[in-house]
Amino acid sequence: MNDSRLFKPNQDRETFVAFEGIDGSGKTTQAQMLKDYIANRGIEVVLTCEPTNGPIGRAIRQAAVSPNPISPQEETDLFIRDRADHVNNFILPALKLKQVVITDRYYLSTMAYQGARGLDPEAIRRKNELFAPFPDLTLLIDIPPAIALQRIQARGRHLEKFEMFDFLVRVRDIYLNQVNMGFPGLVLIDGRQEPIAVHQQVTNLVERLLGLRVRHD
Ligand code: TYD
Repeated sequence: MNDSRLFKPNQDRETFVAFEGIDGSGKTTQAQMLKDYIANRGIEVVLTCEPTNGPIGRAIRQAAVSPNPISPQEETDLFIRDRADHVNNFILPALKLKQVVITDRYYLSTMAYQGARGLDPEAIRRKNELFAPFPDLTLLIDIPPAIALQRIQARGRHLEKFEMFDFLVRVRDIYLNQVNMGFPGLVLIDGRQEPIAVHQQVTNLVERLLGLRVRHD
């Protein structure tokens, strides 16, 4: 039986979900699994990511591997410009079409990563909230940096600029601090679990958000 017949989605409203976490947390896998889960229920859904694949996103990736480091402020400005394009050209139009939008990273990443480079996360937040719509749900896939680095190395990748242990410790601390301070809609999920167990927790939360319920007709 097609799963979509079991559920009656409430798609009258816009639904915007963000995944966050340090590199190696498994959030990209989870974002893809959630997209498939929602699509299998006959609901229109799009998965997107930051940095984007647009011109500014590509410039960010290049800067990350360049021998000439850019300042934290310049980096923040690039991420914010990339996000402004992303919001205006992709996220808002998709939400308007009532598609569920899932993004792999959003402005909590700038607060956490550029915050870990010494900038004030709250100042970064205020700049973003001038233009960036607030996600209904932000899923923080949390794992200790030591495990994250083991996973990244097991994938056969050498570590990039944002993937150093001490740095990831600071990034994670900012994320966790936002949980403690009650960042609206931010939910902590233990990313040390098996991917299927993480997925189960994610879908429980998202089902509630979407108002999915078993059809009795
Ligand atoms: P990542 O999600 O790891 O992308 P990829 O698929 O290319 O591995 O993002 C790349 C890096 O960019 C990651 O280390 C986090 C960093 N980043 C920031 O520092 N600030 C931001 O605002 C965003 C969106 C990402």
